[in-house]
Amino acid sequence: MLELVKKQIEGFVEDVDEEAVAELFAKIPQGKMLRSKLILQIAPSKEGIFLAAVVEMIHAASLLHDDVIDEANTRRGEASINAIFGNKSAIMLGDILYAKAFYKLSALDKKVAQIISNAVVELSIGELLDVQMTQNFNTDQNRYFAMIYKKTASLIEASAMSAAYMAKKDEEAFGLYGKNLGLAFQIVDDILDITQDEKTLGKPAMQDFKEGKTTLPYIYLYERLNEEDKTKLLSLFKKELNSQERAWLYEKFEETKALDDAKKRARELGLEALAVLGDEDSRLKEIMSSLIERTY
Ligand code: IPE
Ligand code: IPE
Ligand code: MG
Ligand code: MG
Ligand code: MG
Repeated sequence: MLELVKKQIEGFVEDVDEEAVAELFAKIPQGKMLRSKLILQIAPSKEGIFLAAVVEMIHAASLLHDDVIDEANTRRGEASINAIFGNKSAIMLGDILYAKAFYKLSALDKKVAQIISNAVVELSIGELLDVQMTQNFNTDQNRYFAMIYKKTASLIEASAMSAAYMAKKDEEAFGLYGKNLGLAFQIVDDILDITQDEKTLGKPAMQDFKEGKTTLPYIYLYERLNEEDKTKLLSLFKKELNSQERAWLYEKFEETKALDDAKKRARELGLEALAVLGDEDSRLKEIMSSLIERTY
């Protein structure tokens, strides 16, 4: 069914009917299509495929803009669009994909269109907060969770909720599943930034802290360091780290179990998500554990 989603997306891009757009779009490699897998699991139908294509297009647009924001030169194992064609083209391609996705979305049920488009407002606010939070070393977990809910969990929540609505399933329960899944998903993304290399991730590694992002592992780390080490950690904030500083950071992550506990928090959220659904669907359990235990 994922093949059908890809075909649908190709159709949307053909519909844009502009060679320049087709050329740029062809340079975007395939992602993991997690949101599609989730939607199709809940709503395995023609409508589900259509919704998945819309959501993947929205997601791709958000990544185009995100790589400009984060000054990231790689994405999905290749040079990012901003790296190849510059920020201006990346921004405009993002706008075109967003607008086309919304046009297609308007063909679906009004409630679905509202849920998804509202999630994109939330996602964009989340990206804005993410940027604003880099002004200082954020140590507030609540602020972190509120931000990742918006920037990442909102679209996943909306996808699950809309798919459930279309399939006449319990949309509140599936929405809550999607929300917790989304939160866990971003925590894992934030952990992988620290633990994996660029080749494995297909996108820059150890980039978040340099960009001023104190993700959950850094918040845990800060809480657990003594005063002297806290000061040292603060002095590394937003810096290009040398190998000694990196080694120090990894040693402290190990010592304080900050990474392990962030992973634990993601697993707990995953379990919470599953608890909402009961024993209903074992594939949704698999989707959850594959997201949490993933390595890229
Ligand atoms: C990356 O999302 C952006 C986040 C919300 C962390 P994915 O990890 O789903 O990206 P692709 O689509 O598989 O590349
Ligand atoms: C998620 O944040 C981006 C979006 C929700 C668009 P990140 O900036 O952490 O995503 P990656 O790591 O670049 O994929
Ligand atoms: Mg990014
Ligand atoms: Mg970002
Ligand atoms: Mg990331």
